[in-house]
Amino acid sequence: MDDVDKIKSKVDIVELLGEHLPLKKAGRNFKTTCPFHSEKTPSFVVSAERQIWHCFGCNKGGDIFTFLMEYENITFGEALRELAERTGVKLTVSAARSDREKKQELIYSLNHLSAQFYNYLLLSHPAGKRGLKYLSDERKLTIPLIKTFNLGYAPANDTLVKYLIGKKKYKEDDLLLAGLAYRKGRYVSDFFKDRIIFPIINHRKDVVAFSGRSLPERNRSVEGPKYVNTRETPVYVKGDTLFGLNLASDAIKKEGKVIIVEGEFDVISAHKEGILNIVAVKGTALTDNQIKLLKRFTQKFTFCFDQDPAGTEAQRKSIALIEKEGITATVISLALGKDADDVLRQNPAVFKKAVRNDTNVYDFIIDSAINQFDQKTSEGKKNILKKTLPYIGIIENEVIREHFLKKLAERIDTSFDSVLKQADKEGGAEVEKPKISQKALLPYEEVLEIYLLSLIFQSKNPKQSLTRVLAILDKIKLTTPSLDKLLSYLEKYNHQNSVFDTSNFVKFIPAELHVPFDTSFLAPIPEFADDEHFFRELEKVVKQVKKLSIKKKLAQLTGLINEAEAKDDDEKLKNYKEQFNSYTKLLS
Ligand code: GTP
Ligand code: MN
Repeated sequence: MDDVDKIKSKVDIVELLGEHLPLKKAGRNFKTTCPFHSEKTPSFVVSAERQIWHCFGCNKGGDIFTFLMEYENITFGEALRELAERTGVKLTVSAARSDREKKQELIYSLNHLSAQFYNYLLLSHPAGKRGLKYLSDERKLTIPLIKTFNLGYAPANDTLVKYLIGKKKYKEDDLLLAGLAYRKGRYVSDFFKDRIIFPIINHRKDVVAFSGRSLPERNRSVEGPKYVNTRETPVYVKGDTLFGLNLASDAIKKEGKVIIVEGEFDVISAHKEGILNIVAVKGTALTDNQIKLLKRFTQKFTFCFDQDPAGTEAQRKSIALIEKEGITATVISLALGKDADDVLRQNPAVFKKAVRNDTNVYDFIIDSAINQFDQKTSEGKKNILKKTLPYIGIIENEVIREHFLKKLAERIDTSFDSVLKQADKEGGAEVEKPKISQKALLPYEEVLEIYLLSLIFQSKNPKQSLTRVLAILDKIKLTTPSLDKLLSYLEKYNHQNSVFDTSNFVKFIPAELHVPFDTSFLAPIPEFADDEHFFRELEKVVKQVKKLSIKKKLAQLTGLINEAEAKDDDEKLKNYKEQFNSYTKLLS
């Protein structure tokens, strides 16, 4: 047994994926919504029997290794090591680390070391005094809170560079790679200077980056924006992380919802009041990747963004993205000009009450448009409709959609009919339409052929089923090349083996047929009362498949005949016409 097999024998795919996804039993398999594409109805299937997963929406699939590679965006080597650690399997050949992995590990250890160093400077070194005073006096943070978030302080005089290169013997290039320093002539200089440091930590507890906030103007020694973030590195992609998620995931699951705020301090102040299911986007709209990250823990998002135009716009953009994910969204409204941190520091009870009184996201959309324009003038009404219909027009649930369209009509004193008409015109105009799943795009022949193969592979006796199918098909090929090839492999396999064994068969077929095979093995098929019912269905389907394949062939031949006629190619014409006639006979 090789390392991969050893690991596979020790990990149950249902258990592993179940730690990340809410799997539900469905017949012989488990189902859930796919973490790799947008969808509302589950088409992600996990088979305990075969230890594989497959999504019928985006057609991705594989085993425990490919799942982790996709889910955590890691290489095969990384997945191998992660699962080896989990199972206690000692890897025989210490699988060579890729260049990318080596770089990532280097950055993680540098970031980790830097976070500890910044934290030490803040809490225990005279250089950090100003920072600590700011955090405790003005931001009202406690020492335990600072420790929980591992906050730090970066002095202005290249302290980190001196520490990492002078003491810890790292190279200049290492620091540049991690984005902790930048080149300044012949030297490298600290990237963060005279700033409060917030480590950004991913769900695997690695420090992926930092953000740094300047101290207030009056005692500030360095110019620059209020916040700066580490630039993108091999471990940090902007918009892929959320501040605070590492501390929030359990609470999000427990509370059944996540509160999304704009800033680091909003998260920290909420923690102080025992509100732990909270994360920050760091001043932008929620990205697709952040939504996918959060969707792993909950289907309910509560936004608490600033009520200024920038905050409102960020919120509107985020809402458009999540409607297509089937997520319930609500909005917390705070007093104008106040963020969560302000309110929590002034009066936590007010914040908690606002959380309890969260409003539906569509009420928020209507309210914010009405606040922006005059609902009494026709110009204002037009603008309000323009701002609201792209969101309300795309609500999938008809009852909810009608409810908010009526509400909107009432609020701007316009008839429901004309709002409805306008909704048909404008609904979704501004907003990206959900992607149509690949399944919906498959030609009918292919869908039917997948069903045929599903019937064969999921039958009690695939060998016997194939014999019946081949007898009817009688040399007619399936229209989908990969499925036709799969059928030929099954025929070959049957010649060489007396019984059909799934795992043997998987080894027998070439790798490019694994996905079509998994698809047919996992696709839902009806339950049949007995063999007679099953074979009746099988024959019906294979006849239909045969008919469609012949029709497709005839259509192709018609094209070829026309072409040959146009070119006066008599020999070809004769050949095509003969073929056409023999196929036509088969059809009757
Ligand atoms: P605090 O005074 O620290 O509470 O900031 P704020 O409440 O004024 O934050 P603001 O609403 O301006 O921004 C919210 C979040 O956006 C911050 O927590 C940062 O994560 C981010 N942000 C703010 N200003 C900047 C900036 O100049 N550059 C970058 N990259 N991010 C910023
Ligand atoms: Mn603030």
